[in-house]
Amino acid sequence: MGKPGRVLWVTGAGSGMGRAAAVAAGAGGRRVALSGRRAEALEEVAEAVRAAGGEALVVPLDVTDVAAIDAAHATIADAWGRVDDLVLSAGLNTPRRTWSDQRIDDFQAIVATNLTAVAAVVQASIEDLRAASGVVVVISSVAGWGFKPGTGIAYAASKTAVGVLCRDLNVAEWPNGVRATHLCPGDVDTDFLSMRPQVPDAEGREGMLSPDDVARAVLFALDAPSHVRIDELVITPTHLR
Ligand SMILES: NC(=O)c1ccc[n+]([C@@H]2O[C@H](COP(=O)([O-])OP(=O)(O)OC[C@H]3O[C@@H](n4cnc5c(N)ncnc54)[C@H](OP(=O)(O)O)[C@@H]3O)[C@@H](O)[C@H]2O)c1
Repeated sequence: MGKPGRVLWVTGAGSGMGRAAAVAAGAGGRRVALSGRRAEALEEVAEAVRAAGGEALVVPLDVTDVAAIDAAHATIADAWGRVDDLVLSAGLNTPRRTWSDQRIDDFQAIVATNLTAVAAVVQASIEDLRAASGVVVVISSVAGWGFKPGTGIAYAASKTAVGVLCRDLNVAEWPNGVRATHLCPGDVDTDFLSMRPQVPDAEGREGMLSPDDVARAVLFALDAPSHVRIDELVITPTHLR
């Protein structure tokens, strides 16, 4: 299984689902470019990718900096020729989620991270994706699958919009061989939960998905044969209401 040698660029690779997907892809022999803001976390993930059997390249990046995305793409292309596939896991939310307490600067940062950056990384890579018959896996949310109040206005809006972006990629780019998956997890036990207004304790996290549960689904989409498109995947803990 796996597609050894293919170049996978992962954003949000320093932790959580991005990290788990990067390591799982490395285990399948992929070359994995790791992006996020914390270089130290990326170095640790690079070691884990190599230990799993893959190659790793650390490319620190703030995905809200569009010029830096182009530079990061150039770094990967210099090292490995091109980007074949993408896993876009970088994401942001805020505990201030209601019309009573949200702030528009938070709103802008969330949209920039969850939506605009996804478009910008795809745009920077589009010629490569066409040449490679590439797969784009966007880690969205159940809040992007159906309306889910309480998840945050900017968060739900940006995750819903990223689903439209995936559908557009599939409709517009299939003749060029590009496929996209809108991957919508429910609760996953990661650092992301620290951005909730009430941060769940150990008991509250029991039964949640693990990053590895989602990584399996990411690899399922990445490894699908080229005539198979996984448009959307919804993955939830069995207890989710
Ligand atoms: N955990 C859940 O319950 C859950 C459920 C559904 C969907 N999601 C989504 O899953 C994705 C991954 O989150 P996670 O749960 O795995 O949590 P996580 O461990 O906090 O991962 C989020 C990653 O995004 C990176 N990131 C944030 N802002 C960035 C920026 N401006 N530039 C580059 N990287 C940035 C962070 O790294 P740096 O801080 O180093 O940049 C971090 O590694 C997110 O898109 C989130 O919306 C999470």
